[in-house]
Amino acid sequence: MTINTVTIVGAGYMGGGIAQVLAIAGFDVAIADVSVENANASLERLKKEAKAFEDQGLFPAGSAELVAKNISAGKTIEEAVADVDFVEEAVFERVDVKRDVLSTISKHARPDAIIGTNTSTIPVKELESAVTNPERFLTVHFSNPAPFIPGVELVAGEATTQESIDAVKELLARSGNQGAQVADTPGMVLNRLQYVLLKEATTIVEEGVATAEDVDTIVRTTFGFRLGFFGPFAIADQAGLDVYANCFVTFEDAYGDRLATPQILKDSVAADRKGVKNGKGLLGDYDQATAEELIAYRNKAYAKMSQLLAELGPAPRATPRNN
Ligand SMILES: NC(=O)c1ccc[n+]([C@@H]2O[C@H](COP(=O)([O-])OP(=O)(O)OC[C@H]3O[C@@H](n4cnc5c(N)ncnc54)[C@H](O)[C@@H]3O)[C@@H](O)[C@H]2O)c1
Repeated sequence: MTINTVTIVGAGYMGGGIAQVLAIAGFDVAIADVSVENANASLERLKKEAKAFEDQGLFPAGSAELVAKNISAGKTIEEAVADVDFVEEAVFERVDVKRDVLSTISKHARPDAIIGTNTSTIPVKELESAVTNPERFLTVHFSNPAPFIPGVELVAGEATTQESIDAVKELLARSGNQGAQVADTPGMVLNRLQYVLLKEATTIVEEGVATAEDVDTIVRTTFGFRLGFFGPFAIADQAGLDVYANCFVTFEDAYGDRLATPQILKDSVAADRKGVKNGKGLLGDYDQATAEELIAYRNKAYAKMSQLLAELGPAPRATPRNN
C-alpha cells in the first residue's frame, strides 16, 4: 500500500511537528485532538510557526504555503480518521489514554489503514490489543523537534505485517526522514541510550565529580560533538578497539560488572579486529580507500561543526539555581 493521506491524532507539540513535516513533503494531512476547537487552534499555530520558520530560513521556500494548503482541521477524531491511509497517534504518554484513543481510531479508520503510535517508551505489546486488525499497527516514533530531527524509530508488534512496515518506511523516505526498525522493548533504543547518559551524568554530579554545567560542557565539546555524524560503533572503530578494550579494564576495576568489557569487544580484539586502523571494525571491514575517505569525512565534519558553532554563538543559558 502507498500512503498519500494521513491523520494525526493529538495535535500538540509532536503531532503538530509531524503534521508540518508530512505536509511540506506533499502529503494530505488532517489533524484532530480532544476537541475540534483544539485542533483548529493547533492549525493556526502550525501555519504561523511555518511562516516564521520559512522567514528565518529554517524551512525551505514555499513551506508555509504547503503547510496552509496540505493541513486541515475542523473534524472530530472519528471523522478525521474515517478515510485516510495512515493515522499517527501522538497523545499523552499514558498507556490508558493511548489505548483509549487507539481503540477509537481503529474502530473508525478503514480496516486497511495503517496506524502508528508516537510513543517514546511504551512497548507495542502493551498497546496492540486496543487496536482492531493489529497487523496494521506499529510504533512510529518521531523525535523532538520533529520538523528538524530526521530520525524515526519503528517498532513492529507480533502481528504487524511487513507490508505495513514497508509502507511507513516509504512514507518516511518521501518526507526526508530516516527510519530504523528496532525490537519491541521499553524505551526502545533512543531513550534507553539517552536516559542512561542522563542517569550517569546525574550520578557524576551527585558524587561531586563535576558540576552539571561542566558535565554539559564536556559532553557537547567532546564526544557529543561527534554524534551528529557517527554512532558509538563507528566512533569505537575510529578510536581503535584495542584502545577501548584497555580502557574498559580501568572501568571494570573501578565499577565492576556495570562497566565490564563488552563481550563483543573482547571477541573482536581476540580476532585481531582493531577498527579502522587495521581495516577490521565492529561495523565491518574498511578497505584502504574507504578508511582514508572516512577519516577525511570525519575531519571535514568536525571542522564544519566548529565553524557552525562559532557562527551560531553559545546557546542561551539558564540562570544558576539557588535551591
Ligand atoms: N515532547 C517530546 O520530546 C517527545 C518526543 C518524542 C515523542 N514524544 C511522544 O509524543 C506523544 C505526544 O507528546 P507531546 O510532547 O506532543 O505532548 P503534548 O502535550 O504537546 O500533546 C499531546 C496532545 O494530545 C492531545 N490529547 C490528549 N488526550 C487526548 C485524547 N484523548 N484524544 C485526542 N487528543 C488528546 C492533547 O490535547 C495535546 O494536544 C507522547 O507519546 C510523547 O511521549 C514526545
